[in-house]
Amino acid sequence: MQNCLIKQDGGICDVVWKDGHESSYHSTWLRYNCQCKKCFREFSGTYTIDILSLPEVLSVTKAEVHNEGKALKTWFQGESPHMTEHDADWLRSQCYCDNCLDCDIIKRDVINSQKCAGKLPTVDYNTIDKDEERFKFNVLKQVVDSGICLIQNVPITPGQVLKVASMFGPIYSTLYGNIFDVLDRKAENAAYTNLLLPFHQDQPQYESMPGVQLLHALRFDSSVTGGESQILDLFRAAETFRRENPKYFQTLCEVPCKFETMDKKRSHPVFQEHQKPHFVVDYFGKLVAVNWHPGIAVATRVRFDDVPRYYEAYRGFLKLLERKEGMFEFRLKTGDLIIFNNRRVAHARSAFENNGGVRHLQGTYINLDDLKSNYMTLAIKLGENVTPPKVGNGSSF
Ligand SMILES: [Fe+2]
Ligand SMILES: [Zn+2]
Ligand SMILES: [Zn+2]
Repeated sequence: MQNCLIKQDGGICDVVWKDGHESSYHSTWLRYNCQCKKCFREFSGTYTIDILSLPEVLSVTKAEVHNEGKALKTWFQGESPHMTEHDADWLRSQCYCDNCLDCDIIKRDVINSQKCAGKLPTVDYNTIDKDEERFKFNVLKQVVDSGICLIQNVPITPGQVLKVASMFGPIYSTLYGNIFDVLDRKAENAAYTNLLLPFHQDQPQYESMPGVQLLHALRFDSSVTGGESQILDLFRAAETFRRENPKYFQTLCEVPCKFETMDKKRSHPVFQEHQKPHFVVDYFGKLVAVNWHPGIAVATRVRFDDVPRYYEAYRGFLKLLERKEGMFEFRLKTGDLIIFNNRRVAHARSAFENNGGVRHLQGTYINLDDLKSNYMTLAIKLGENVTPPKVGNGSSF
């Protein structure tokens, strides 16, 4: 930090940085985010400041650069003993000029992250013996960058998927329990049959749809024909949709879809419904969440006039997905485990015939926020320079 300057009768404080960049901070913003020991508890990262005890209109009377440019200190009218303090690096990272905001948004955009090019990003499970943290980071990085990672040579012990999942976050239990078996047993749920499963995310009937899915192939006999897995980046598909048909895109942001899972026959009967739009766009106009599962999209409850335009747009996106642009298809082998971002990646499965063989997968979920947190904390620990990723969980950052 080179210099600071009070502007607009103390309503704004400008900071000039050593590289020439200039930042402007509102006095309210500075005071409410004061990082002095009285206002901010560093160990817990919480603010103890009583905003309503401060004057409604705040005005900076004095501003100084301290500690060889490493800190900014400001004083406010009518608050003489209190000195507002900010760390320079933190202040710079929070600059909200259009340029810094746009850079930050672009850098973190899901769509700018890598996509699978020809080969599934793969990590060998055996590398865990050499360096467990490095193994975890490598897997997390692929999930963050490409939306999916294939872990090969995972021991084929029933329940192993829970052990692997727990390395990346606590298990997220759903109506299917902690762990679910994907096996052709002609069941009610289409996943437990040999039928084709169209592109979908798992369980959007939850307010908080599972963030990360893990699927472990305990057994996938070579005699089984079909049963290939397909994945597709829904964020890319939605952006293409927005470009090609902005009107339809807007409709699917506005008119919600109802997702429902009703299962009276289970030992624990289920009644789940959640109505929400297919696409969520944030304050900056960026797509931040997608909700898609035609298999459990039931009769939506919306206003009369919105029904035709909803179905028109819905068909439009179904048609776009049918083009399968950027789709990636692979066949799991016994011992393979895939971990993928359920908020970003849609998955599908082709129909299969057992031909006397067995296709048995075990799956579980973990929370996406936990995965992101583990990725960032591991990156810091391992000295990796990474950008905090936007993961498609509805958040702008
Ligand atoms: Fe699924
Ligand atoms: Zn303070
Ligand atoms: Zn800036």
